Order: sequence, then structure tokens, then C-alpha cells
Amino acid sequence: MPDEEVTPTPDASKDAPRRAGVFSGKRRPLLLAGAVVLVLALLVAVPGFIASQPSFMARYKYLDVEYTTWSQSAHAGIGCQNCHVPPGLLEQAGYDTRMLGAFYVSLVSPDATLPPFAKPTIAACSSCHAALITTSPKGDLKIPHRAHVDVLKIECATCHQYLVHQLSPEGRHTPTMAACLVCHDGKVAKNACSTCHTAKAAPANHSGADWLIVHPDKQAELDCTSCHKWKTDWCADCHSKRPASHVADWRKTHGAAVAVRRNCEACHAATFCEKCHGDVPKLNFDPALALVQ
Ligand code: HEC
Ligand code: HEC
Ligand code: HEC
Ligand code: HEC
Ligand code: HEC
Ligand code: HEC
Ligand code: HEC
Ligand code: HEC
Ligand code: HEC
Repeated sequence: MPDEEVTPTPDASKDAPRRAGVFSGKRRPLLLAGAVVLVLALLVAVPGFIASQPSFMARYKYLDVEYTTWSQSAHAGIGCQNCHVPPGLLEQAGYDTRMLGAFYVSLVSPDATLPPFAKPTIAACSSCHAALITTSPKGDLKIPHRAHVDVLKIECATCHQYLVHQLSPEGRHTPTMAACLVCHDGKVAKNACSTCHTAKAAPANHSGADWLIVHPDKQAELDCTSCHKWKTDWCADCHSKRPASHVADWRKTHGAAVAVRRNCEACHAATFCEKCHGDVPKLNFDPALALVQ
């Protein structure tokens, strides 16, 4: 590319015979100024322009992933510096200057790297996205943007980290539930499913008195995953949590519970009971139950 920009030089040498006469006259300063402008254009403006284009990033092998994903994203055509550099004139000019330097460095050392790309700021994203939604486009998720961005000062990229270059573990470019749960843990902020989801209220069968007994058998009539699959191994994940039946004095009372209904094997291996009992107490033993793991 840059080679093409140098083509004016032969033209300049063709003018050489005329130059002697002209240089002695009034036009000399003008020509000098013209020459300076030309040199600046060749050495500064043109390389500067080239280096500020996102396509310039294609020459950095180590940025292959970032460049390719960007070029296929909804933001293809939006310069790297629109997100990675704050929108102020000074910051943008600073970027252009750094990239001009990078242009020349890349000529002599092809393996050179660029300074790290800073995390996009709220100001950078907001320079294009002023109106922010409160419900996802599909209508399935409540997301009060202003409360999080203006009041809580959460960076856009904290939730939108998978926006451009990476896919989330779920294979999408949209924010993940895991990013929300960092704060929405039931203490810092609410964690009830209905806080965020508009269509994940527990189905009616969940309130049946026998739900904790029959739920493993209901998988054929109801797609459990549409609500529970946010954890990878959802049966086992839930079964590794202390259930509500295990009240404070459970250590003392569990014998009585076993006498009423035996479901321990859904969560406890035999070795667990053996730790205290020496062997597995057989009262009401339910051989049909298998450890959920
Ligand atoms: C629409 C905004 C946007 C544009 C345009 C964009 N990026 Fe990014 N980029 C992001 C976000 C968001 C992240 C993730 C930041 C995070 O998680 O901290 C990121 C991360 C990166 C990272 C990793 C930074 C790190 O933390 O190590 C690199 C490198 C990068 N971008 C390069 C580029 C390049 C090169 C271009 C232009 C070809 C580009 N980006 C264009 C938004 C953008
Ligand atoms: C220079 C302007 C500009 C900047 C800066 C910018 N965006 Fe965008 N954004 C756009 C345009 C244009 C679209 C595409 C709209 C469309 O296709 O309907 C878009 C689309 C989106 C979408 C929808 C994504 C999709 O895949 O459809 C999200 C979310 C988004 N931007 C968030 C961000 C965030 C977060 C940042 C900061 C890291 C950011 N944008 C920076 C202009 C910008
Ligand atoms: C607290 C987390 C969070 C923060 C912070 C956040 N967003 Fe979002 N944003 C979301 C979620 C969740 C969605 C809905 C995504 C979906 O459809 O699944 C969304 C959707 C969007 C959309 C609409 C996408 C579309 O397809 O129409 C845009 C645009 C957007 N965000 C831009 C921004 C910008 C700009 C900022 C910073 C000023 C920002 N967001 C900060 C969580 C966040
Ligand atoms: C950095 C912490 C943080 C992150 C990350 C975060 N939130 Fe929040 N969010 C809060 C706080 C604090 C409140 C206000 C307290 C509350 O309502 O529990 C809130 C409130 C909300 C509310 C309003 C709750 C109500 O009914 O009053 C919704 C909806 C919400 N967040 C959705 C989300 C979603 C969706 C995400 C992820 C895409 C997310 N939040 C990520 C901190 C966070
Ligand atoms: C703080 C907000 C928040 C809370 C609380 C929350 N989620 Fe989510 N959830 C999200 C976001 C954001 C996503 C990712 C967006 C998407 O894929 O729809 C998500 C995705 C999911 C998904 C996978 C996406 C799908 O629709 O297939 C399931 C399943 C899910 N949540 C279930 C739950 C259940 C059940 C609860 C209660 C135990 C819960 N969520 C609580 C924000 C939240
Ligand atoms: C439409 C959403 C939805 C579907 C579908 C769904 N659940 Fe649930 N389930 C919930 C919600 C919401 C809760 C209570 C909140 C939580 O998980 O923390 C819950 C709780 C449970 C509990 C614990 C109840 C308690 O009292 O402790 C079990 C067990 C359970 N679900 C099993 C299942 C099984 C098995 C299926 C499939 C046959 C299923 N769920 C289908 C939304 C759903
Ligand atoms: C939301 C949490 C949750 C989920 C998800 C869940 N379970 Fe359970 N499960 C429980 C609780 C709580 C109990 C009963 C504990 C008690 O009685 O104190 C239980 C009990 C059981 C039992 C013993 C039932 C009996 O006969 O008394 C089996 C078997 C079982 N679960 C299997 C499964 C399977 C298989 C899945 C996945 C398809 C699953 N569970 C998903 C919470 C859950
Ligand atoms: C942390 C130690 C501990 C573990 C683990 C434990 N138990 Fe116990 N268990 C006890 C103690 C102590 C008692 C006596 C309680 C009392 O009567 O005060 C007891 C009492 C019982 C009783 C009443 C009859 C008897 O033998 O005294 C049964 C039945 C029982 N446990 C079943 C089980 C089963 C089944 C498991 C495994 C799922 C189990 N326990 C795990 C400590 C334990
Ligand atoms: C839904 C899963 C689940 C079921 C069903 C279940 N437990 Fe547990 N139980 C747990 C978990 C999780 C713990 C905590 C384990 C730990 O701390 O290592 C626990 C702990 C215990 C403890 C130790 C209590 C303490 O305070 O130290 C005993 C004893 C126990 N369970 C007995 C039983 C007995 C007896 C049954 C059957 C009547 C049973 N469990 C059914 C999940 C379950």
C-alpha cells in the first residue's frame, strides 16, 4: 500500500531541470512550503490515515481473532478506537499519534505488538448508544440500563464483554446470567428468577405437596431445562445444596425423618452414612433411588 503513495517522487524529479530557474524567483518560498506539505503528507498524513483504519490491524498476526470477529460483528465498520479509546479529541488524537508510530515500527519489525487495548468506557459506548432499553428485544428479560449505568456506574463492557470478539460459554454475543449473578446473589441485589425473567415463574406442579418426591419423574411432560439449565449439571448442582428439610438440629432429628420417608440416597453416597454409623442404616431403605450426580 504505502509504495503507491510514493509515486509522486518520479514526477518531482522530472521537474528538476525547471527547478533551477524557478528557485531564484518569488515562488521559491511557496515551492518550499509546497514541498514541506508534500513531505508531511507522505510521511505523516497518509501513513496516519492508513494506520487509523481498522484494516491496518490485519497486519498484526496476534490480533487475528479480534480482527476477524470484529469484521463479522454488528460493529464491523466501526473503528477500533471508537470503542477502545475514550471519545475526547485529545484521547483520539493521542491514539492517532501512537498508531502513526506503530506504522513505522511495523515496517522495520513485522512482529511488533501494539499497546494493550483498554476496556471500552461508558462514554465510548454512549457516544453512539444514547437511548437504552429497559427490556430485552425479545421481551424475556428485564434490564433497567439506566439504573446500572448511571446510578451504579457499571461499565457497559462488564455485562457486554462478549459483544464483539468472543462468544459466551452459551455461544452468544449477549450478556450472560453469570455476569449478573456476581451482584445478584440475594444480598447485594435480588436473585429471584422473576427479578430479571418475565417468563420463568415456577409452573403450578411445583407447588404440589409431593413435588419434592415426584419431580424426577416429570421430565417427560415438562421441559425442565428451559428454566433450570442455566447451570451445567442442573440436577446434581441442586442436589449438592443443603435442602430445606435439613433444619438446624438435623443431626439429631434425621433418624426420625428416615423413619417417615427415605430419600437420602438421591444425594448421599453410602459412605456418607458410614462415616458416623459404621454401616448404612437400613430403616426404610429405598433401593430404587440412585445418587443424583
Ligand atoms: C463495539 C465496540 C468494539 C469495537 C469496535 C472493537 N472492540 Fe475490541 N473489545 C470490545 C470489548 C467489549 C472487549 C472486551 C473488554 C473486556 O472484557 O474487558 C474488547 C476486547 C478487545 C481486546 C482484548 C483486550 C484485553 O483485555 O486483553 C483486544 C485485543 C481488542 N478488543 C482489539 C480490538 C481491535 C483490534 C478492534 C478493531 C479491529 C476492536 N477491538 C474493535 C469492544 C470493541
Ligand atoms: C461508533 C458508534 C458505536 C459505538 C462506539 C458502539 N456501538 Fe454498538 N452499535 C452501533 C451500531 C451502528 C450497531 C448496529 C445496529 C444495527 O445493526 O441495528 C450497534 C449494535 C449494538 C448492539 C446490538 C448488537 C447486535 O449484535 O445486534 C449492542 C448490544 C451494542 N451495539 C452495544 C454497544 C456497546 C456495549 C458499546 C461499547 C463497548 C458499543 N455498542 C459501541 C454503533 C456503535
Ligand atoms: C447490568 C448489565 C448491563 C450493562 C451495564 C449494560 N447493558 Fe446493555 N444490555 C444488557 C442486557 C442483559 C441486554 C439484553 C440482551 C439480550 O437481548 O439478551 C442489553 C441490551 C443492550 C442493547 C440492545 C441490543 C439489541 O439487540 O437491540 C444495547 C444497544 C445495549 N445493551 C447497549 C449498552 C450500552 C451502550 C451500555 C453502557 C452505556 C450497556 N448496554 C450497559 C445488559 C447490560
Ligand atoms: C455490579 C453489580 C450488578 C450487576 C453486574 C448487575 N446488577 Fe442488576 N442491580 C444491581 C443493584 C445494586 C440493583 C438494585 C438493588 C436491587 O434491586 O436488588 C440492581 C437492580 C436490578 C433490577 C431491578 C430489580 C428490582 O425489581 O428492583 C434488575 C431487573 C436488574 N438489576 C437486572 C440485572 C441484569 C439482567 C443483569 C445482568 C445482565 C444485572 N442486573 C447485573 C447490581 C448489579
Ligand atoms: C439478575 C438477573 C437474573 C436473575 C436473578 C436470573 N437470571 Fe436467568 N438469565 C439472566 C440473563 C442476563 C440471561 C442470559 C440472557 C438469555 O440468554 O436470555 C439468563 C439466562 C437464563 C437461562 C438460559 C437462557 C434461556 O432462556 O434459555 C435460564 C434457563 C435461566 N436464565 C434461568 C433462571 C432461573 C431459573 C433463575 C432463578 C433461579 C434465574 N434465571 C435468575 C439474568 C438473570
Ligand atoms: C417455567 C420454569 C420452570 C420449569 C419449566 C421447571 N421449573 Fe423447577 N423451578 C422453577 C423455579 C422458578 C423454581 C424456584 C426457584 C429456584 O430454583 O430457586 C423451581 C424449583 C424447583 C425445585 C425445588 C423446589 C423446592 O421447593 O425446593 C425442584 C426440585 C424443581 N424445580 C425441579 C424441576 C423439574 C424436575 C422440572 C422439570 C420436570 C422443572 N423443575 C421445571 C422453574 C421451573
Ligand atoms: C431446584 C433444586 C432441585 C432440582 C433442580 C432437582 N432436585 Fe431432586 N430434590 C431436591 C430436593 C430439595 C429434594 C428433597 C430433599 C428433602 O426431601 O429434603 C429432592 C429429592 C430428589 C429425589 C428423591 C425423591 C423421593 O423419592 O423422595 C430424587 C430421586 C431426585 N430429587 C432426583 C432429581 C433429578 C433426577 C433431578 C434432575 C432431573 C432433580 N432431582 C432436580 C431438589 C432438586
Ligand atoms: C454426622 C454424623 C452422621 C451422619 C453422616 C449420619 N448420621 Fe444418622 N445419626 C447420627 C446420630 C448422632 C444419630 C443419633 C441421633 C440421636 O438419636 O440423638 C443418628 C441417628 C440415625 C437414625 C436413627 C436410628 C439409629 O440408628 O440410631 C437413622 C435411621 C439414621 N441416623 C440414618 C442415617 C442415614 C441413612 C445416613 C446417611 C444418609 C445418616 N444417618 C448419616 C449421626 C449421623
Ligand atoms: C437434595 C439432596 C439431599 C437429600 C435428599 C438429603 N440430603 Fe442430607 N445433606 C445434603 C447436603 C448437600 C448436606 C451438606 C453436606 C455437607 O455439608 O458436606 C447434607 C448433610 C447431611 C447430614 C450432616 C448434617 C450436619 O448438620 O452435619 C446428615 C446427617 C444428612 N444430610 C442426612 C440425611 C438423611 C438421613 C437424608 C434422608 C432422610 C438426607 N440427608 C437427604 C443433601 C441432601
